[in-house]
Amino acid sequence: MSDGLEGVIAVHTCLSDVDGENGRLILRGHLIEEIAGRMDFAEVVHLLWRDVVPEVDGMTAADVGTALGAHRQRAFERLVPLLAHAGGLTITEGLRFLLSALGDGESDTPGLYVTAAAPVITAALVRMRAGDEPIAPKASNEHAADFLRMLTGKPPTPESVTALNAYWATVADHGMNASTFTGRVIASTKAGVISSVVGALCALKGPLHGGAPGPVLDMLDDIGNAENADVWIAAELAKGERLMGFGHRIYKVRDPRADVLKVAARSLKSGANRIPLAEAVEARVLAYLKAHKPGRRLDTNVEFYTALVLEALALPREAFTPVFACARTAGWVAHCYEQISEGRLIRPLSAYTGPMPEVAHAQV
Ligand code: ACO
Repeated sequence: MSDGLEGVIAVHTCLSDVDGENGRLILRGHLIEEIAGRMDFAEVVHLLWRDVVPEVDGMTAADVGTALGAHRQRAFERLVPLLAHAGGLTITEGLRFLLSALGDGESDTPGLYVTAAAPVITAALVRMRAGDEPIAPKASNEHAADFLRMLTGKPPTPESVTALNAYWATVADHGMNASTFTGRVIASTKAGVISSVVGALCALKGPLHGGAPGPVLDMLDDIGNAENADVWIAAELAKGERLMGFGHRIYKVRDPRADVLKVAARSLKSGANRIPLAEAVEARVLAYLKAHKPGRRLDTNVEFYTALVLEALALPREAFTPVFACARTAGWVAHCYEQISEGRLIRPLSAYTGPMPEVAHAQV
């Protein structure tokens, strides 16, 4: 038995490979550096889903973009009337609540439906928190561009669209992470695509998984100036706190997505402004972690520069996890179909550590 299933291979997948020793991420035969910044979201979905998700059989990447647009409209009509019921929830909880309102049998294209619904709901919830009315999608728009337009009501800049697409490409799929595993367990029971995605989202919500970028910005704000970094870092480590945006179960070297995201952050004005402080803090954190946790091989993970990209896109911190989920839904859907077509019910064993019944009772 391995605590946290560390080192255990749980499934076969053709979708992505995370090589933690060499800092390499492959999506269906392509290094992440070949994809991020070059493919838009529909192209990434097409790459991940073709020959795996029957919903896109025979479609080109352009067809997938068109289908996502039609499904965004459908999701807006179906879910926006329910927005008011998400009033007291965080944006992540609101997304979870509204996605779970979709029935598993409601659509014969549940993967497209839920992938298109996530940004529609996220944008509407962000606006609702600011007291603004939701903005309807435009089916003919590119997916990331339409999300940014639904957030602000204004056409986004080309740099913003490229940066968001680069971010979404880096997080669309990533091996057997906690949320994807959760989704596959649910899919293995044949519960349905929507149920699998909702369960996966619940796992993504935790700060050890998809909830880290907001706290990364809190850390940069608290430190404020590179000269304060040493004192701040030492105090946090002395309290036993984890430094957000660092460490990874699989990567024992720098997460390859960190540099891709640094480039994306640099392409946006406010992201570029943050980079000098972020780089200084990153260097000091790495030095402290090396000294404080010798032999642990803790390095920068995806969430550190993600935080800069999402902040530069003017997204509120509370929306960071839902925006992550908008892309990871594509991975969850692909894993769900892969599990259904190839996998068995996932049902491991447990090692019982409780008391045994007394013999006299056992005989009765
Ligand atoms: N800061 C300080 N210490 C750390 C950190 C960190 N960020 N990460 C790990 N450690 C320490 C642990 O305290 C532990 O020390 P110990 O052995 O003396 O008790 C040691 O390094 C090993 O850590 P584990 O908990 O075994 O590592 P695990 O593989 O379980 O954790 C995780 C990986 C959860 C990502 C962890 O590194 C962490 O909490 N990081 C901060 C949160 C974060 O950035 N999450 C985003 C991850 S990326 C993603 O999911 C999309």
